Amino acid sequence: MTLLRSALLLVCSALPHLHAAPVADLHIELNQRGVDLSPHLYGLFFEDINYGADGGLYAELVQNRSFEYHPRSKPEHTALYAWQPVARENADVKLSIGTADPLNPNNPHYLDLALGGRGVGGAANLGFNGIAVTAKASYDVALFGRIASWTGDSTLTVALELADGTRIATTRLDPLDNTWARREGVLIADRTADDARLVITTTGRGMLSLDMVSLFPQDTWRGRKYGLRKDLVQTLADLAPKFLRFPGGCIAHGAGLANAYRWKDTVGDIAERKPNWNLWGYHQTYGLGYFEYFQLCADLGAQPLPVVPVGVSCGFHSGGGVQCVPMDDLQEHIQDALDLIEFANGPADSRWGSVRARMGRTEPFGLRYLCLGNEEHDTPEFHERFPRFVRALREAHPEIRLIGNSGLSANIPLYDFMHRQGVYSSDEHYYELPEWFLRHQRRFDSFDRTKPKIFVGEYASWNNTVFSALAEAAYLTGIERNGDLVDMTAYAPLLARTDFTQWTPDLIYFDARRVLRTVNYYTQQLFSHHKGDHTVAHTFRAEGLPPRDPVPARFGLGTFKSTTTFTQASLNGRPLDLATWAHAAGTFSATAAGLEQTDASLAHTLALAPIAAPGERHLFQVRARRATSGDGLLVLFGADSAGMGGYVWQVGAEGGRRHTLHQVRAYDHWSRMEVASARADLLADDWLDLEVDLTPERVRCRVGGVTVLEHVFTPYEPAVSVTYDRATSELILKLVNPHPEPLATRVRLDGARSLAARGRLITLGSSRDAQNTFEQPDQVRPLESIIPVSSDFIHTVPAWSLQVVRIPAFAP
Ligand code: AHR
Repeated sequence: MTLLRSALLLVCSALPHLHAAPVADLHIELNQRGVDLSPHLYGLFFEDINYGADGGLYAELVQNRSFEYHPRSKPEHTALYAWQPVARENADVKLSIGTADPLNPNNPHYLDLALGGRGVGGAANLGFNGIAVTAKASYDVALFGRIASWTGDSTLTVALELADGTRIATTRLDPLDNTWARREGVLIADRTADDARLVITTTGRGMLSLDMVSLFPQDTWRGRKYGLRKDLVQTLADLAPKFLRFPGGCIAHGAGLANAYRWKDTVGDIAERKPNWNLWGYHQTYGLGYFEYFQLCADLGAQPLPVVPVGVSCGFHSGGGVQCVPMDDLQEHIQDALDLIEFANGPADSRWGSVRARMGRTEPFGLRYLCLGNEEHDTPEFHERFPRFVRALREAHPEIRLIGNSGLSANIPLYDFMHRQGVYSSDEHYYELPEWFLRHQRRFDSFDRTKPKIFVGEYASWNNTVFSALAEAAYLTGIERNGDLVDMTAYAPLLARTDFTQWTPDLIYFDARRVLRTVNYYTQQLFSHHKGDHTVAHTFRAEGLPPRDPVPARFGLGTFKSTTTFTQASLNGRPLDLATWAHAAGTFSATAAGLEQTDASLAHTLALAPIAAPGERHLFQVRARRATSGDGLLVLFGADSAGMGGYVWQVGAEGGRRHTLHQVRAYDHWSRMEVASARADLLADDWLDLEVDLTPERVRCRVGGVTVLEHVFTPYEPAVSVTYDRATSELILKLVNPHPEPLATRVRLDGARSLAARGRLITLGSSRDAQNTFEQPDQVRPLESIIPVSSDFIHTVPAWSLQVVRIPAFAP
């Protein structure tokens, strides 16, 4: 490496900023082909979370159009949610919910408007915090209506109005009758507005009932009537996804059996679909249902990957306990899965194929994969039910590849079970710190190739910053290196509507009008557009990497289900006044001696030093006594000023038997990465002399002067992927530099029959914490240029960046 450094420094001496900079050597042997990359890399996972479907992809602008909202999803979600009475002049208007003689049994609630007095009366829908409309654009309005005890005119005026009552679009619908009838019209907005309301009024008197009140832009994806939001689908299409997994996630198996996603409820006429509450806290109209999902896949050129529940509800969301379909009733659910295959692939005259045909598609959708379950728990009930699905599906449809799931977390507890089931691939999920992805970029190098292929069906690092996107990029280079094993990957969650979000980070944010592509999005896009067909043999070495950012010397103390006394705290020998520490979580009482936490029921209590101490080396000392056995006491260090990040030393986890050191996203967040652990033998009531000895390079945790844990803050590996695109005869390099300094890399290219003199360079990068926002949506985006290349050249990868280099090259 010293030779490498000297060579590079010589070559780079013309570049003043490169003295003593980190250097790397990338040696590529183009004539040595590696593994073929899966044709299914890369894809998408879509779930109706963060109003991704209703209020998102599904372009319906009316919220609660069929009055089926229910407080099960959220207390305020009554059947009248998002609706208001409209009474003008001396009209007397009362809104209520009717259930007698509904539109159909799947749509049991509707709006009753009791209209009295004199003047104009009706109801208004507020949309999703206002309806955004564009000047001169056309909107399709439709509703079902019925009148009873009516006097006067029964035509309805439908308008878009601003909050002050200004009308910006108006139409009149044909008169109503005393049986349910559909009416439709078109509204053309005369100006652009973000906070319009849909107002339906009449001058008649009596009882007016409304249901399925709908407003759609005509300008939808592919111009389909009542279709999908064009800008959002375009954003997905721009990722060139190879597959789309849907409809969840947790909503696939549901917070209980009644809440599981039953695909048959989601097809056919939209007024007859059977909506359900969404475990993410809102309502699912199922207007975006299985037909629309399959159609979207066809539009995107993506393999459809439906997820069917396997008779066990979601282990995270089934508050009252996981519910399981009794074994005697399981066949009905297996039949659902079999019928789904017929819906997708069956002839147009088959039972379910004909439903598809009536919806407008006679030819099959070409379903080839089926995902069984989502993030299942490793329970006897699951073990009993899963094989029944596998057997029945395999017997009836050997042509369909079954995708199992590996259970919760990167520990993949169900992978071996899936191996025994002989599934095609198995789905694993993880949401981790960026550091986890950087540290685990070699995860698949040692996986057993005789086991099922891997589907990384959901993953994300906790942030939308450049650093987080680079961590994902580094992980993806490991996936390309193992492209023979890792068959599919998808970031999650995909979409999030601002102000309607239950989960961050997400890949794409949007509001009523705008779409924001995150840095993570651009990372996915670069990997998707520049994948290549096979890997190319190479070696990569880097040296002189800059040390990690110093860990802030901000200390905290806490407990995990134990009562504890802390005393005699000091930093670098100077006593600290624990009474001044902020009680960030739980209840502490300051005593003459120090601090006491006396509630053994609390997990993650925390008292935090007011500020981080300056300087490089820190020795934090404290005496602590854990009075109840519990799961230990906690010493925190390294949190930033917002309390995020840092490390937690759990002194006496597992009832006193272990010390663990975790890098954490936030002190009490479940996303944490264990970086060190050791056996312990601590008794309740023992006084412990604890020390954290922190330098920029490492930390040592001591008990009674003896080091029990040590962790070195090693730099993260830069990452490289080398692949070849046979269609364009180009070598593709992907280079990830997750460091604050540029990485001067000597690229040596052997074995090429011919090599172009110039390559195409695409750079995505900025500062570590930069991210795109609605105010600055293009702050970080891929930038292209042309660079000179040869069989031996120096290329400098900028700090905090992902680069793609495409070099036209012919292999022998
Ligand atoms: O992507 C959000 C959720 O994370 C999914 O619904 C679930 O599968 C996982 O726990």
